[in-house]
Amino acid sequence: MNNKLGFKTLRYETVDSTNAVLKALAEDGVEPGAVVTAKVQTGGKGRMGRRWESPEGGLWMSVLLETGSAFKDDKFGLLPLMAGASVATAVIMEHDLDASVKWPNDVMIGDRKACGILGELFRTDGRDMAVMGIGVNVNNKVRAANYEFSKVSTSICEELGRPVPLDTLETAILEELGFRMEQLESGESQKLLDDWRSLSSTLGRQVSVSTPAGEVRGLAKDIDDDGSLLIDTKGLLNKVSVGDCRHLE
Ligand code: BTN
Repeated sequence: MNNKLGFKTLRYETVDSTNAVLKALAEDGVEPGAVVTAKVQTGGKGRMGRRWESPEGGLWMSVLLETGSAFKDDKFGLLPLMAGASVATAVIMEHDLDASVKWPNDVMIGDRKACGILGELFRTDGRDMAVMGIGVNVNNKVRAANYEFSKVSTSICEELGRPVPLDTLETAILEELGFRMEQLESGESQKLLDDWRSLSSTLGRQVSVSTPAGEVRGLAKDIDDDGSLLIDTKGLLNKVSVGDCRHLE
């Protein structure tokens, strides 16, 4: 990718979804590396068709990536891992919190979810692109009336006991993402996988993953080269490439 991530950043007060806004801009010719942020999202999108609560105080951002050279051989499963590892590292570096990645791409602080990531792939003008939507609960309340946050949500503010600036975290995330994109573009996907392994709170635990083909339970052994989770179910190794993962213990 030629442009530094965030070379162009469009900041909105309120949008339905930063992912939807950035995808429309990409279809109008905005170049990869562009970023959209919003103070509030009225129709924030989560994984599996869920809603993502996005009141003021959170970091709601989307980044446009060109995926052609970084994700060769259809290794798109590395995209969420790359984004999760970038956010977790930025949270650790900026705030010294116990952040980890839960497969495939949630960022946890302790046992609670602080960030969700939604990658959307598309093709425009003959180029393969991804909008990476990153939602971090920073200073927003996660137990507010009128909002349906999950019981296991947390925020950086709640963990630290004080509000923190959004802009430094945004910059740190973009730097981490840019660094990992370069790693993948130069064929160093093993480095990303090792980095993800060392940030993971999933590996070595009993998990239950609900997949389109049903539930898979067992010990999360490792991740494969394409980002799939390898689960040992009573001695049988299952490879899971999509699903919702729950830590059982
Ligand atoms: C998840 O379900 O965990 C993924 C949540 C992704 C939320 C972010 S917030 C910024 C971007 N815009 C959206 O509509 N969704 C993503």
